[in-house]
Amino acid sequence: MTALRAVVTGASSGMGAATVRRLCEEGWDVVAVARREEELAALAGETGCEYVVADMTSDASVAAMAERVLAGGPVNSLVANAGAAYGQDEVASSDVEDWAGMFDLNVLGVVRCVKALLPALEASGRGDIVVMSSTAGHIVYEGGGGYVASKHGAHTVAATLRLELAGKPVRVIEIAPGMVATEEFSRKRLGSQEAADKVYAGVEKPLTAEDCADAVVWTLTRPHHFNVDLMVIRPIAQAAQHKVARNQGL
Ligand SMILES: NC(=O)c1ccc[n+]([C@@H]2O[C@H](COP(=O)([O-])OP(=O)(O)OC[C@H]3O[C@@H](n4cnc5c(N)ncnc54)[C@H](OP(=O)(O)O)[C@@H]3O)[C@@H](O)[C@H]2O)c1
Repeated sequence: MTALRAVVTGASSGMGAATVRRLCEEGWDVVAVARREEELAALAGETGCEYVVADMTSDASVAAMAERVLAGGPVNSLVANAGAAYGQDEVASSDVEDWAGMFDLNVLGVVRCVKALLPALEASGRGDIVVMSSTAGHIVYEGGGGYVASKHGAHTVAATLRLELAGKPVRVIEIAPGMVATEEFSRKRLGSQEAADKVYAGVEKPLTAEDCADAVVWTLTRPHHFNVDLMVIRPIAQAAQHKVARNQGL
């Protein structure tokens, strides 16, 4: 039987890289996509995946990525995982450039990939779009409103697509993780390792990149009539965005 083939964006680190590893272990053909070539090449050496360097904030780059992917064969699944948070400022003191950057990557990046790959996903007869949103796409919290707004946007893209694709052979799956201790996400958001460590301080077991990959792979490997609209996942220590159990003294 021909292997299913997936495109995973944001695959140079964190959840995306973990998803590539898991899908390859499950026998899928995988194309890993991100901007950092060195990381992608190392992942390809480790897993046997293909890779394409592309910037999700550029129409031309995403179009070129799709062209390369489709030249290699049919594609069944898009895992739109690339994303980032910039800062934790309150709305009044936030930088509009940060909002624009997050919207460009977290919302328009998903839209660009969907536009480029949807005809092929549909033509495969067994297509999937997985949108990696966040619990920030479903609740609001003070500080970081730009990230929250952009992830609400990603949720909206997924929900709208699901309606528009009714009757077509393409599932639309949204995964909304809460606190995940990936190596780079909070460091990039807050600017230092020290600040990033505080996010997870005293939390016994935040979710890991591998946990999120597990969620992606579980949804993708259900029989194709079984669509997981939305999967919200959190560590047991995080009962809600504002309710995180931390070890005393931390
Ligand atoms: N960590 C969390 O607590 C958490 C919780 C909920 C949801 N999420 C979401 O989960 C996803 C993955 O997060 P993560 O924790 O795994 O973060 P991460 O390790 O920082 O990974 C982000 C990925 O996105 C890629 N990326 C960033 N800008 C890009 C661009 N312009 N074009 C192409 N790729 C780009 C990065 O690769 P390059 O820099 O090489 O391009 C990297 O591979 C994101 O959408 C994030 O918002 C994270």
